[in-house]
Amino acid sequence: MRVLAMLDGTLADADGPLVRADDLGLLRGDGVFETVLVVDGRPRELGSHLDRMARSAAMLDLPPLDRAAWERVTRVVIDAWNSPGEMALKLVHTRGPEFGDGTPTAYALGLPIGAKTLVNRVEGVTALSLDRGFDPAIVERAPWLLLGAKTLSYAVNMAAMRYVEAHGADEAIFVAADGSVLEGPTSTVVLVEGTTMRTTPPTSGVLPGTTQGALFRAAEQAGWTTKVEPIGRDDLDGAEGLFLASSVRKITRVRVLDGVTMPDSAALHRELSALYESEYA
Ligand SMILES: Cc1ncc(COP(=O)(O)O)c(C=O)c1O
Repeated sequence: MRVLAMLDGTLADADGPLVRADDLGLLRGDGVFETVLVVDGRPRELGSHLDRMARSAAMLDLPPLDRAAWERVTRVVIDAWNSPGEMALKLVHTRGPEFGDGTPTAYALGLPIGAKTLVNRVEGVTALSLDRGFDPAIVERAPWLLLGAKTLSYAVNMAAMRYVEAHGADEAIFVAADGSVLEGPTSTVVLVEGTTMRTTPPTSGVLPGTTQGALFRAAEQAGWTTKVEPIGRDDLDGAEGLFLASSVRKITRVRVLDGVTMPDSAALHRELSALYESEYA
């Protein structure tokens, strides 16, 4: 099932034409988006997603988001979604048509969660580390690279996913030119040693993950130590727990990294999943 609504709240035919051929989101990937997990009619981390979309839009000099309208359209799609289970809700905001009056194209699209994602959540994944080709020091110096903005230009991220799949793995973990760990093409890296959880800082050019944020919040409440600090690629080898977090993945464990089997983190995965879910109990 799929549900589509325009930002003004009107439902539209999810199978019908929607975006003009000259829309800059389509022509140049010039726009921003979010994917929100909805469980039992409740959107998870909607506030954090809208905060991040507003930040991304500001980085692209797009008009400011109408937050109340996004909250309303989220509700419209959720109310029209009459299928059991979870929904991935895409919020899309482009620069609109070329030579237009600057009015963005903006809509919300509810989709089911992919079958492979559901299997990976349970079974864990194999991952390959891939060079991302930039040094974190460039992030501040070159704002035009839009590192840390969630733009519609995901062709590189999707190419990385195809690359790892062609090489027999499920997921990629990007590594910066200085050997530090960045993020997955659509996920945040979380590393666990003892009762400490770590993730890469947004200053390295990664997205601040809403799922990782929820997990760290719950973990801190439960007495864990959380650290947002650079992580070296070597730190991942043999780690007690290596996880990829994202809205649709939730917390997925990495079983094999670069062909090497990691320590069994099934029990740790159950613990982290319970912490994450406790945020929505
Ligand atoms: C590049 C990137 N990093 C991290 C994430 C994880 O973010 P979230 O937990 O908010 O879904 C995503 C989500 O798709 C992403 O695209």
